[in-house]
Amino acid sequence: MTNHGMTTIALNEQEKHTRKEQILEAFRFRHATKVFDADRKIPAEDFDFILETGRLSPSSFGYEPWKFVVLQNPAIREELKAVTWGAQGTLPTASHFLLILARSSEQVRHGSAYLDYMNREVLKLPEKAEEGRKAMFRDFQVRDFGLMEHPRQLEDWAAKQTYIALGNMMTSAAQIGIDSCPIEGFHKEKAEALLREHGILGDEFSLSVMAAFGYRVQEPREKIRRCADEVVKWV
Ligand SMILES: Cc1cc2nc3c(=O)[nH]c(=O)nc-3n(C[C@H](O)[C@H](O)[C@H](O)COP(=O)(O)O)c2cc1C
Repeated sequence: MTNHGMTTIALNEQEKHTRKEQILEAFRFRHATKVFDADRKIPAEDFDFILETGRLSPSSFGYEPWKFVVLQNPAIREELKAVTWGAQGTLPTASHFLLILARSSEQVRHGSAYLDYMNREVLKLPEKAEEGRKAMFRDFQVRDFGLMEHPRQLEDWAAKQTYIALGNMMTSAAQIGIDSCPIEGFHKEKAEALLREHGILGDEFSLSVMAAFGYRVQEPREKIRRCADEVVKWV
């Protein structure tokens, strides 16, 4: 066991039932919270827990093409509000406001220095394995997923990975009674320019999505979802 890994999770039927109920309760509790109680702050260790579930999220090939920036500066939040129509109520009131960055197309293109760093220093692949993986990844990007026609395709591929972390962080927040709102209601070019101006966004990243966290001030309307028959198909 390394890195706090668990080899098994053994639950009896009762424990499993309880765990499932708690998880479903969190999924029902979570809703896209439009305004937060500006006077309530999420305790630091609770927000660290949320970030940790983002960090531990899976990503394609394990390349973790993300960075999480916690934006607490009220003046910059106010500036961002002008180009973020989807966060008018949350930018000023969120206890914690997260910018989820994705690695740029250059960074995630096969053969890049970042991918070499990931293969060698993080994934610690032996030389032979690294060669094989590099060839496999190139085939994946060029042949299987056809990601090489436009740089935006590679950027979006990286951004797709960040949404896994986003989902996990919102769910883990809900499991400890913390509200959230995912946000892609922003003008990408203008928001990125603003963040670059402030030195928050470097060339190696783009702005993928945002998420606001805090505590609700009003109860949400009833959850609306299509029925399972419409969503799930067994073949
Ligand atoms: C990727 C993503 C981006 C979203 N962007 C915004 C946004 O900019 N502003 C907003 O208020 N809600 C946003 N939402 C919230 C959705 O509108 C909401 O999740 C959906 O209507 C379902 O409602 P529920 O989350 O309350 O169950 C976004 C949701 C997702 C998943």
